[in-house]
Amino acid sequence: MIIQPKIRSNICITSHPLGCAREVERQIEYVKSKGSFSGPKRVLVVGASTGYGLASRIVCAFGSGAATLGISYEKEGSAKGPGTAGWYNTLAFDHFAHQAGLVSHSINADAFSNDTKAQAAQWIKENLGQIDLMVYSLASPVRTDPNTGVLYRSALKPRGADFTAKSVDPFTGVFSENTIPASSPEEEEATVKVMGGEDWELWVQALREHGLLAEGFLTVAYSYIGPEVTQAIYRNGTIGKAKEHLEATAHGLTEKLADVKGRALVSVNKALVTRASAVIPVVSLYVSVLYKIMKQRGNHETCIEQMDRLFRTRLYSGGPIPTDEHGLVRMDDWEMDPSIQAEIKKVWDKIGPETVNEYADLEGFRKEFLQMHGFDVPGVDYNAEVDPERLGL
Ligand SMILES: NC(=O)c1ccc[n+]([C@@H]2O[C@H](COP(=O)([O-])OP(=O)(O)OC[C@H]3O[C@@H](n4cnc5c(N)ncnc54)[C@H](O)[C@@H]3O)[C@@H](O)[C@H]2O)c1
Repeated sequence: MIIQPKIRSNICITSHPLGCAREVERQIEYVKSKGSFSGPKRVLVVGASTGYGLASRIVCAFGSGAATLGISYEKEGSAKGPGTAGWYNTLAFDHFAHQAGLVSHSINADAFSNDTKAQAAQWIKENLGQIDLMVYSLASPVRTDPNTGVLYRSALKPRGADFTAKSVDPFTGVFSENTIPASSPEEEEATVKVMGGEDWELWVQALREHGLLAEGFLTVAYSYIGPEVTQAIYRNGTIGKAKEHLEATAHGLTEKLADVKGRALVSVNKALVTRASAVIPVVSLYVSVLYKIMKQRGNHETCIEQMDRLFRTRLYSGGPIPTDEHGLVRMDDWEMDPSIQAEIKKVWDKIGPETVNEYADLEGFRKEFLQMHGFDVPGVDYNAEVDPERLGL
């Protein structure tokens, strides 16, 4: 079949197998171009198929020669239609890792379930013995509590009061003011259940019970703080409450890991184009303005550059891991640089329907969004027939 991008309500419902594979290859080449570093050798990545988790897996494997186990939950490509980008990314990662002689295994299953944890533990026991690092990079709209069977649905909403802010539709360029209604207490609680630290802790517990944590074990999860202009919807919103829970979980986990001299950390990463940022209007405007300014300054990073810097200069630099006063690793240091934020504030006051294209990198947003789904990738012929069950490499 011929696979072209199909975008409905800012969600791309198709993905291109070869385009995804080429994007994974590009990320691998980036890491290889930086040379090798002395990092973890046995790694579990939960949420390994896209975004920050995939980039973390690539850095560990192709930068540090690590054997990796990746967990993700993606739709398989079939004769009926294409799979999700994460499905093709995982096939591509396994392909390139095996080609390079690296141990790589991927499980496509619900990470929140007890069964998936047991399956991962069994594979680690049989193939790696123990692990040195677990990256926890899940982003999910829903979670079924494995012990009660209750399904929780997360919400991206402000808490306490409705929030009205400048917004843009990154695909049409239409500028507007959007109001997002305040969350209910139930939505707040559900978001913490889905995106907080409970499942992260359950993963560590499951691995620990099987004696799979090596001495000096490290686990890292990802968070976001962001600027004043998105505070009401992000950090002070339902998702911010979940991130607070995740960060508090890290402190508790480090105490529980004392016997293996282990540590749990949260890294605060930079805002990026993602499936989520394309559907939250205020966030897509902020990301587009941020991209424009950081590209002008020459310090714009995508997932792979950001994760490469995290592993080489923070987590495995050979020295103590630098953290802020709250114990957080700050990879958002360039985004939150006061001079960048001052410029964003200035732009934010001026930006409107006539100036949005001048001040916001909407073109860059769209391009990165398409590339996340394997489209607009140089060298790929999108008019050629492809088999959705294969990468076509
Ligand atoms: N994207 C950003 O701008 C940004 C910035 C800072 C921090 N973060 C954080 O980084 C983390 C990862 O975000 P991302 O943007 O890379 O997300 P993403 O959507 O690209 O990746 C999410 C991963 O989770 C997996 N997943 C989702 N539900 C699952 C389930 N039930 N079982 C197994 N796997 C499942 C997906 O398959 C995928 O591999 C999140 O905690 C997010 O809050 C993101």
